[in-house]
Amino acid sequence: MSEIIEPFRIRSVEPIRFTTREQREDLLKAAHWNPFLIDADDVLIDLLTDSGTSAMSAAQWGAMMVGDESYAGSRSFRRFEAKVQEIFGFKHVIPTHQGRASEKILMSIVGGPGKVIPNNNHFDTTRANVEFTGAEALDLVIPEGREPDSLHPFKGNMDLDRLGELLQTRGSDVPIGMITITNNTGGGQPAAIENIHAVRNLLHEHKKPFIIDSCRFAENAWFNIERNPSCANKSPKEVAQETFKGADGASMSLKKDGFGNIGGFLALNDDDLAEKARNILILTEGFPTYGGLAGRDLEALAVGLEETLDPHYLRYRVQTVRYLAEKLMAIGVKIVQPPGGHAVYIDARRFYEHLPANEFPAQVFVCELYRFGGVRGVEIGSVMFGRSIDGKEIPADRELVRLAMPRRVYTQAHVNYVAEVIAEMWEHRHEAVGLKITRQAPFLRHFTAHLEPVRSK
Ligand code: F0G
Repeated sequence: MSEIIEPFRIRSVEPIRFTTREQREDLLKAAHWNPFLIDADDVLIDLLTDSGTSAMSAAQWGAMMVGDESYAGSRSFRRFEAKVQEIFGFKHVIPTHQGRASEKILMSIVGGPGKVIPNNNHFDTTRANVEFTGAEALDLVIPEGREPDSLHPFKGNMDLDRLGELLQTRGSDVPIGMITITNNTGGGQPAAIENIHAVRNLLHEHKKPFIIDSCRFAENAWFNIERNPSCANKSPKEVAQETFKGADGASMSLKKDGFGNIGGFLALNDDDLAEKARNILILTEGFPTYGGLAGRDLEALAVGLEETLDPHYLRYRVQTVRYLAEKLMAIGVKIVQPPGGHAVYIDARRFYEHLPANEFPAQVFVCELYRFGGVRGVEIGSVMFGRSIDGKEIPADRELVRLAMPRRVYTQAHVNYVAEVIAEMWEHRHEAVGLKITRQAPFLRHFTAHLEPVRSK
């Protein structure tokens, strides 16, 4: 059969609330044209993030009922630890409440002024945690990874020449090297297992630990099975196990490929590094056998880590994103190619060609998406990455909108609806009016900024 179906049936449902376009116009105004400030109850289909928004399975909910909430040495931790070790293969498993807690712990040990940490592309929170210590976060993705139209199958690969050069010229400043799979900042693009191993070997030649940001490791494994002949006949678990072989550690947000609504870990092989990490963990997260989590969370995550590697699930997962991407491309919408594992990234600059960057075309897109259909996406453009210097706006390099798919939450009909909304926006694109910022915070302004249209329609 060629039809790829949702590999589950639904026995627990949650209603979603319909609003009229007039109501949404009022809600947008009240939210100052910033969808982050709209209540989730007023959103029909929420594609803001794939993080923490997964539907848990009956097996995960069942596992929660047997959570062991002992402060020390909980049985649930042992189960969690064993599952993480089976897949990732690291000696020390340190549970945290989410990915950035792992990053904070790791960077406070290895970071510091004068240091430089390479990655394909640092995710925002990783970059922030590196920079918070005074270190530099360096992005070394391959040139194709920066080209929205390039069809390179592994646009998350690291540029090995540039990494080699960095290690030659500034080796003593590099405490660790990283790679992010899949590369969220670069469009949810995978890295080839051979590239990951080459990064590891290069770092090891220079005696540097190699840490993998593994949030979407299962999606990355699936892309390798689809696109990489060396993985074609392997199971997702085998590819995942091979991915981490020889690496020195992983930081993980289990809110993504762990099917968790909360959770993460830092896994390490080095005893000394692990001891330092646990000491900080006790200070900020909790005792090493629960970290920032309840025993019941650890149970649900252990089950989720197994479910995420089901080939039927991964085939469906990657296909839902591709399906939406293909519908949008058929309309004429330009997206980052090829579609990523967890999200479609729309090029808003080429959608609203009449809007200059200082009128925030990607923010206009997310507002119009909400106004036309009650759908929420996230702006990755000049509101997020632009800067205001003495009242003058310096735009970002790109004006993207990310439509991230929560795992196992929406059906094909929901996706058809989203595509229909965007088709209507495309027809009316010339009528869209730009936005200007009326209020902003000094850091991470996109979360709380207020905007308004530059003129009335
Ligand atoms: N690394 C990557 C690649 C991520 O995508 C995220 C989170 C993190 C680390 C941090 O994990 O949220 O559990 O603290 N990404 C979310 C997103 C927020 O919407 O892409 P966290």
